[in-house]
Amino acid sequence: MSRADAPRTATRIVVLTGAGLSAESGLATFRDSGGLWEQHAIEDVATPQAFRRNPDLVQRFYNDRRRQARKAQPNEAHRALARLSLRDDVMLVTQNVDDLLDRAGARGVVHMHGALNRGVCANCGHRFQVDGDLTTDDPCPSCGQASLRPDIVWFGEMPQQMDEILHALQAASIFAAIGTSGEVYPAAGFVEIAHDHGAECVEINLDPRRSSPLFDRHLAGPATMTVPAWVDDILGSAPTEP
Ligand code: OAD
Repeated sequence: MSRADAPRTATRIVVLTGAGLSAESGLATFRDSGGLWEQHAIEDVATPQAFRRNPDLVQRFYNDRRRQARKAQPNEAHRALARLSLRDDVMLVTQNVDDLLDRAGARGVVHMHGALNRGVCANCGHRFQVDGDLTTDDPCPSCGQASLRPDIVWFGEMPQQMDEILHALQAASIFAAIGTSGEVYPAAGFVEIAHDHGAECVEINLDPRRSSPLFDRHLAGPATMTVPAWVDDILGSAPTEP
C-alpha cells in the first residue's frame, strides 16, 4: 500500500514555528530588537486597508522579503524538523512565510500565514507560484485581471487551514511552540487548546521568560541547538510508524 493510500494516522505531535526558527538563517524576526515591526508599521504594510491605500508600497515590502527569503538557507533546526515531519503522526504548522522548512525537505508544512512564493488573484482566487517580484500591473495568469496580491495572511484576515490545525491540536499528545513570541492570535491560543486536550506542551525559544504558564516545559537557547536535540529525543524515544 502506498503512503497516499494508507489510512491517515491520527496526529500525535503538532509543532508550531515562528520567526525565531529562521533567525539563524539571517531572516529578521518581528518583535525582537531591530525586528521588522520596528522598521515598518503593521498598518502600512500588513493589512488589507494598507493594500487598498498603497498597493505599490505593500508589493515592494513583500518583494523585498521574498528576495531575502530566497537568499536564505535552511538551518539545522529546519533540517531537524524536516526529519521529524517524515513521521505520519506529525503536523508542522508555521507562521513563517519563508519556505525554509520546505526547502529543508519537510513534508506537508501548513503555512497558516501564507507564503511569499505564492500569489493569489483578488478577482478570481487563482493561486500561483511567484519567484520574482509581483507588481500591481501584472495580469492574473488565469483571468487576466491586474488584481494580484501576495498570498500572505494580513492582520484582520483568517489564517489558512485552521480546521485542519484545530483538529490536530485536539488529538495531539505533544505540542511544541518554537521561536514564536505568542503575541499573535489565533496561533498564540494553540497552547491552550492543546493543553486542554491533554497534550504535553513544550516551548522552545531563545528566551522563554515571557511565555504562557500553560507550557509544561521550556527549552531555552538558539533553535539550531535546541531543536535538533529535541527532535533526536522524540525520534529516539517514540516508536515510528511500521
Ligand atoms: P516574533 O518576532 O513575534 O517572535 C520571535 C520569537 O523568536 C521571540 O520569542 C524570540 O525570543 C524568538 N527567537 C529569536 N531568535 C531565536 C532563535 N535563534 N532561536 C529560538 N528562538 C528565537 O515572531 P512570531 O512569533 O513568529 O504575522 O510572530 C508571529 C506573527 O507576527 C508573524 O507570523 C507575523 C507577525 O506579525 C503576520 O504578518 C500576519
